[in-house]
Amino acid sequence: MTTIDTDPDTGLDPLEFAVTRNLAAKSAADRDAILASPGFGQSFTDHMVDICWSVRGGWHRPRVSPYGPISLDPAAAVLHYGQEIFEGIKAYRHADGSVHTFRPDQNGRRLQRSARRLALPELPVPYFLQSLRELIAVDGAWVPSGEDQSLYLRPFMFAKEAFLGVRPAHKVAYYLIASPAGAYFKGGVQPVSIWLSEDYSRAGKGGTGAAKTGGNYAASLLPQSEAYENECDQVVFLDQDRNVEELGGMNVVFVYKDGTIVTPQSDSILEGITRDSLLQLARDRGHHVEGRNVSLTEWREGVASGDIVEVFACGTAAVVTPIGILKGRDFIDEQPSGTLALELREELTNIQYGRAEDKHGWLYRLDA
Ligand SMILES: Cc1ncc(COP(=O)(O)O)c(C=O)c1O
Repeated sequence: MTTIDTDPDTGLDPLEFAVTRNLAAKSAADRDAILASPGFGQSFTDHMVDICWSVRGGWHRPRVSPYGPISLDPAAAVLHYGQEIFEGIKAYRHADGSVHTFRPDQNGRRLQRSARRLALPELPVPYFLQSLRELIAVDGAWVPSGEDQSLYLRPFMFAKEAFLGVRPAHKVAYYLIASPAGAYFKGGVQPVSIWLSEDYSRAGKGGTGAAKTGGNYAASLLPQSEAYENECDQVVFLDQDRNVEELGGMNVVFVYKDGTIVTPQSDSILEGITRDSLLQLARDRGHHVEGRNVSLTEWREGVASGDIVEVFACGTAAVVTPIGILKGRDFIDEQPSGTLALELREELTNIQYGRAEDKHGWLYRLDA
C-alpha cells in the first residue's frame, strides 16, 4: 500500500486498499508489444481499482484487483436509468522515468460536480488522488515512454443498486481503469473538419451538459454518425439560441485578430481542463481571454471578415486540434489557419512531459 498522510484540507485519513495481484498479468514482452503501438482505448492494464459506496456505510472496501469483468445484477439502476459519470486524465512518463499526471485535483472536483448533478455520492478528492496512485503503484510499467504516448486513466462511477424504482441509488461503485494511449495524430497534428448539427442538440438549459455523464455521449452518437456521412471528423453543437456549445468531446476556442481569445461559456458545456490550462498559458503571453456566448453568426461572419484568425478544439485525448472546415447543410466555410493553437499545444505538452518548467504547479507525481 502507498503511504499517504492525512489530507491537510479535509482531515481525511487515507484509505487502506486491499491489493490482490493479477497472477495472469501480461509478461514484460507482451506489455512492451502493446506499448509499441497502443492505439486508443483498446488495451487495458493488469489491474483496476474500485471503492464501494452505500447510504449506510459511505465509502468502503477500497480494492486493487486484477482487471476483469464486473458482475452486475440485471436490475442495477445504471443499466436502466443511466446514473453514471466518468473522467478522463492521462499519466505521462518523464525522461527520468518518473510518472506524473496533470491537474488531477481539477478532475477530482469535476467528478464531484458531475456526481452532484447525477445524484451520485461525491468521492472526496484525496480518495480520487489516492486511487490514481494505487493503480500506478501496481501498473506503473504500463506508462509508455514513446513520443506523445501516455497512460489514459478512466475513473468512473455508477449506480449498482438492484432496484427498478426511479430514485438515486443507495449503492454505488467507483472504479478506475487504465489504457495505454499512442500519439493521437500520427505524422503531425492535422486540422479537423466539423459538421454543424442542426437537428440534434447535446444538452439543454438546466440539463446535464456540464456533467461528464454517459447520456451526453450517447446523445452525441447519432449526430456524430451524421458528421461521418457528411465526410466530417467531428460534430459541433449549438444551444437553443444558436450559440456554439462544443464538439462531442472537445471544447472550442476562437482567436480574434486583435489577439483576444474567446470561448463559449455556459452551464450546458463541459468545463475542459485542457481549455482552462491553454487559456492560462495564453494569458501568460498577454492575451485577453473572454468566456461568453458566441453565436453561429458571429463565428461565420468573423471568419468571413477576417476578424477571427484561428479556431481550434481542445481536450485531454487530442490536446489541441485546429479546425480546418465548418460544414453545414448548405455551406462549407474554410477556417483560417494560424500558429497560436499549435504553439500553445507545444507549450502545454512540454509541461506535461516534464520538458518545460511547471510554473503553475500543475503536475502531480504518481509514482512516489
Ligand atoms: C464533451 C467534452 N467537452 C470537452 C472536453 C475537454 O475536457 P478536458 O480538457 O478536461 O479533457 C471533453 C473531454 O475530453 C468532453 O468530453
